[in-house]
This record gives sequence, structure tokens and C-alpha cells, in this order.
Amino acid sequence: MIKYTKAKLSDIQAMQDLVLDEVKKGIILFRSADEMATNIRSYILAKDDDDNIVGFGALHFHAFDLAEVRSLIVSDKCRGLGIGKAIVEELLNEGKALDVKKIFTLTYVKAFFESIGFEEIPKESLPAHKIWADCIKCKHFPVCDEIALIKTI
Ligand SMILES: CC(C)(COP(=O)(O)OP(=O)(O)OC[C@H]1O[C@@H](n2cnc3c(N)ncnc32)[C@H](O)[C@@H]1OP(=O)(O)O)[C@@H](O)C(=O)NCCC(=O)NCCS
Repeated sequence: MIKYTKAKLSDIQAMQDLVLDEVKKGIILFRSADEMATNIRSYILAKDDDDNIVGFGALHFHAFDLAEVRSLIVSDKCRGLGIGKAIVEELLNEGKALDVKKIFTLTYVKAFFESIGFEEIPKESLPAHKIWADCIKCKHFPVCDEIALIKTI
């Protein structure tokens, strides 16, 4: 059975290993161990029966009413089992408990987020600091074909 838990600093190495292939492909942004440590409270992990990390995602706050689902990954061999959806639902519940109103994401997997109730929005409607703090680090910047989606909760 898959367990959903908060990340600890000691999980960072395994999280970086899990995401490596998607970072190389440019699907997920590289985050240093120090940056992950700074944001460690934002991550939720999916762990299997042997306590191996099989997926994770983060909820990052941008404003008093706005957060972002980011860094979402499920290991290759565990995809299609509902783990990605369950991680996002955990993140949405965490946002709800903190009274966030809207949660957005930037992604290549539009249909996945639509299946969880997210709706496409123009990228220009995202906060400018998101573009300058994060997107500028992406190897696809400024020719970006990611799609922005948002969910009101
Ligand atoms: C995207 C990703 C996290 C999905 O995780 P997953 O555990 O395989 O997804 P789930 O099994 O929870 O799927 C949930 C729903 O989304 C759909 N879905 C999953 N992956 C999809 C994809 N790549 N494209 C379209 N729909 C997809 C499923 O069919 C399912 O639909 P249903 O609820 O109607 O049955 C996983 O494929 C992944 O790690 N991809 C690489 C990294 C990535 O793209 N991350 C997103 C960056 S924001």
C-alpha cells in the first residue's frame, strides 16, 4: 500500500535521484539540495511498503490566496496507478487547510491536471515573479510550451 507523508531533509538525496531523468529531459526544473531543504515543508512523498519513495510533489505559496503545485513526479514503474492524482489531492487538501483559494500549475500533462479539475488559463495571468524566479532557470526559456492550469478550491 502507498503511504503519503511529509518529506524530511534525509529524503532529499532519494528525491533528487527519482527526478533525475525528468530533469535531464527538461520536464522538471532542477532544484539544488539546499533549495529543496529551504522548501522541505512544501513536499509530500508517496512511499511504498519498503519505504522507497515512488513519487512526490510540492505545494509552493506565491501570495496570500495563491499557491502552485510543482515538482510533481511518479517513478516510471509506478505510473498509471493513481499515485500522481493522490499526491495532488494531498497537496490540495493541505492548501485548503491553510485557506488558499487558488492553486495553479505549469505543465506538459494538461489532461492529467484536467482529470483533477484544473482548467487552462493564459500563462500571462501568472504572477510575474514566478516567471523571473523559476522559468528563467529552465532550459526551454523563453520558448515555453508548458500549459498553465488553475483550480479554485
Ligand atoms: C504526470 C504524472 C505525475 C502522472 O502520475 P500518475 O501516477 O501516472 O497519474 P495517475 O495514475 O494518478 O493518473 C490520474 C489521471 O490522469 C491521467 N493521466 C496520467 N498521466 C497522464 C498523461 N501523461 N497524459 C494524460 N493523462 C494522464 C490518467 O489516465 C488518470 O485519469 P483517470 O483519473 O481518468 O483514470 C507522471 O506521469 C509523471 O511523473 N510524469 C513525468 C513528470 C511530469 O510530467 N510531471 C508533471 C510536471 S508538473
